[in-house]
Amino acid sequence: MNYFVRRNGELYCEEVAVGEIAAAVGTPFYLYSKKTLLQHFHAFDSGFAGSAHLTCFAVKACSNIAILHLFASAGGGADIVSGGELFRALKAGIDPGRIIYSGVGKTEDELRYALAAGILLFNVESGQELDRLQRVAVTLGQEAPVSFRVNPDVDPLTHAYISTGLAKNKFGIPIREALPLYQRAAAMNGIAVKGISCHIGSQLTLISPFVESMTKIRTLVRSLAENGIPVQYIDLGGGVGITYDDETPPHLHDYAEAVRKELAGLDCTLILEPGRVIVGNAGILVTKVQYTKTNRGGEVEKKFVIVDAAMNDLARPSLYGAYHTIQPVRETGAARETVDIVGPICETGDFIAKDRTLAAVVQDDLLAVMSAGAYGFSMSSNYNSRPRVAEVLVDGDRYAVIRRRETFDQLIQGEVIPEGQEAGHDQ
Ligand code: LLP
Repeated sequence: MNYFVRRNGELYCEEVAVGEIAAAVGTPFYLYSKKTLLQHFHAFDSGFAGSAHLTCFAVKACSNIAILHLFASAGGGADIVSGGELFRALKAGIDPGRIIYSGVGKTEDELRYALAAGILLFNVESGQELDRLQRVAVTLGQEAPVSFRVNPDVDPLTHAYISTGLAKNKFGIPIREALPLYQRAAAMNGIAVKGISCHIGSQLTLISPFVESMTKIRTLVRSLAENGIPVQYIDLGGGVGITYDDETPPHLHDYAEAVRKELAGLDCTLILEPGRVIVGNAGILVTKVQYTKTNRGGEVEKKFVIVDAAMNDLARPSLYGAYHTIQPVRETGAARETVDIVGPICETGDFIAKDRTLAAVVQDDLLAVMSAGAYGFSMSSNYNSRPRVAEVLVDGDRYAVIRRRETFDQLIQGEVIPEGQEAGHDQ
């Protein structure tokens, strides 16, 4: 359920016409619906009502502080993977006691920053990380709260680039090697063993891989308790998929039910790290047609719609071959044709959609790239020296720019021409 709706052929976000926002803020821009964001958060979170739990939004999916602030107000925490994400989460008003820190490559500076901030848990992914965390904690005179992220060797049956729970992936500690590491950690000063975590992948459309990994986690939790290391937190990561095209992801309550059933009787607080399922269908990318053209040669005839958004603004189609539905912002009733929707970047890999059959568009028409709220803006870059686009949040019949479009000056911010290196000057 989302609040991108059509009225008299016009696309609306809640009560505001998308075309009206485009006229005011220019294109391209990301557009989010507050009502949808909150509804998705509550739909996810309420599945666990009655069980001790904490929903920590995966900041990487959509990291604008206005959006993080919404989840903070709804009682959510944050799953972070860098010092930058910690900075954002704190600026957004997320309680450090609700922040957990995942990731395979935390630097010493990042560990120090997070310890000083007083986060809830470090999801430690290697023995070397444990040793480094201990050193930093002892230096600061603190005790670091630790969960180990285990790798359960379960196939999440999703795109290879976003599968994380297989033995061949870089993530986590092989589940069979976890017990000795827990025993080592339990004996360390500066380390407080608190929990266990895992995250097997993203855009999962089946419940079975989650169940398979929970079965393995349950066995480990029991064996830890038998070895005198009871854990207080079980973190199942994120990963629940959404519908981009015709996928049929699990219903959120079925997912929650399966989790609760598998972990019943363990007397632990559950931590969940959803990202995509909350924001994916709560955001769109709005772009304007610049040109249309047909390239011919031999048997080939290919129609292109060149828009002002590109792979730097939305990387998912180029990077994963991901599918995003394309809708006209205003329906015209024009005859349909099959086109590639491409951006201005100088690479053939720069496309938003391929071989799509849509009502024919003309210059200056607006198109909406749907389901772009997750890993859309947050993965955008300045490639081809394109300023990053604006982000806009609608709340009922009002909207606010929650991130201004970047300027050319911002593009070169921090760049310096060294003295004595004037044009034509040989060093
Ligand atoms: N927790 C951890 C430790 C993660 O690495 C991730 C995502 C999540 C939670 C949230 O997963 P979600 O609920 O969003 O599936 N850029 C890719 C997705 C990368 C996912 C990375 N990790 C894409 O656009 O499909």
